[in-house]
Amino acid sequence: MNLDAIQEKALAGIAGASDEATLQSLRVRYLGRRSELTAALRGLGKLPKEERSRAGAAANRVKQAIEAAFAARSDALHRSREESIAESEWLDLSLPAPVSRRGHLHPITQVEEQLDRLFRGMGYRVVEGPWVEDEWHNFDALNIPEWHPARDSWDTFWLSDGNLLRTHTSPVQIRAMRRFGAPLRVICPGRCFRNEAVDATHEACFNQLEGLVIDREITPGHLFHSIRAILAAILEEEVETRFRPSYYPFTEPSFDVDILRDGSWMELCGLGMVHPRVLEAGGLSSEEWTGFAFGLGIDRLAMMRFGIDDIRWFHGGDLRFLEQF
Ligand code: FA5
Repeated sequence: MNLDAIQEKALAGIAGASDEATLQSLRVRYLGRRSELTAALRGLGKLPKEERSRAGAAANRVKQAIEAAFAARSDALHRSREESIAESEWLDLSLPAPVSRRGHLHPITQVEEQLDRLFRGMGYRVVEGPWVEDEWHNFDALNIPEWHPARDSWDTFWLSDGNLLRTHTSPVQIRAMRRFGAPLRVICPGRCFRNEAVDATHEACFNQLEGLVIDREITPGHLFHSIRAILAAILEEEVETRFRPSYYPFTEPSFDVDILRDGSWMELCGLGMVHPRVLEAGGLSSEEWTGFAFGLGIDRLAMMRFGIDDIRWFHGGDLRFLEQF
């Protein structure tokens, strides 16, 4: 085939190529080792000398023309691809942005954070414990042995491995004593779980704030004074409270604090002097150390604070409710 025919065929092919892959295969066909042009260039050696340089120059011109056509077509394809991307992914940056909705902290978190600040200001350390607890920390170490009827008052979610979802934050008392020793002043906020008949003041998952103070010669006087100061700080002044004797295996004596809400009393907090057996389970000598502890229902405090009549509102995920706080 003569050189002009090769060039004509190649340029027509290149002009018709609509993507890089086709272009690449044409490149092999017209410029590759087995192309007609390469064969023609190879055949130059066989020509007589005077013809060879003329034919060589002609063959090189054809080669350059084909290479230039490849480069031009490749550029054109590249540009048109960019243009189509720009077209399909076009953004109007001058359009006003959609207004994003700003959230805020959940009312329970708000109360929790306020308690956190209050207790830190009073020199308490804030610690947390695991939600999945073992039986020893949740019950035994708190002077609630297996046979003890008091266990029935905590409706426990047991796990298949023998552990449980903690029913209160009191197990963190034991963990804190064993970890930090005495003297000690800690609060332990966090979730608790009970297999409970849910009603307006009982949830299956709720939040408590445990408090524990251990020192030498702590008396019920310290307990009452501290609890009154704490209640004064966290409740509005006009909220009426009452203390009544109660029973917890891990405190002796034990009390409950109720608050008056819409004419009826709601239990807010259990408290008492730390039982000597609990001090020992915490690795402390009950001869040397004394203490008081309390366990406060954060959800119930939030109900009081925000005037909410049913604890179930907190967990419903209803934004119309949450946006009020
Ligand atoms: C306890 O859980 C004790 N660990 C409290 C304690 C700690 C006593 C340290 C002495 C010393 P009680 O089961 O009463 O006790 O719960 C304490 C508080 O948690 C209650 O007063 C209440 O405010 C809150 N609470 C208990 N159960 C629920 C529930 N199902 N839903 C919402 N709040 C609850």
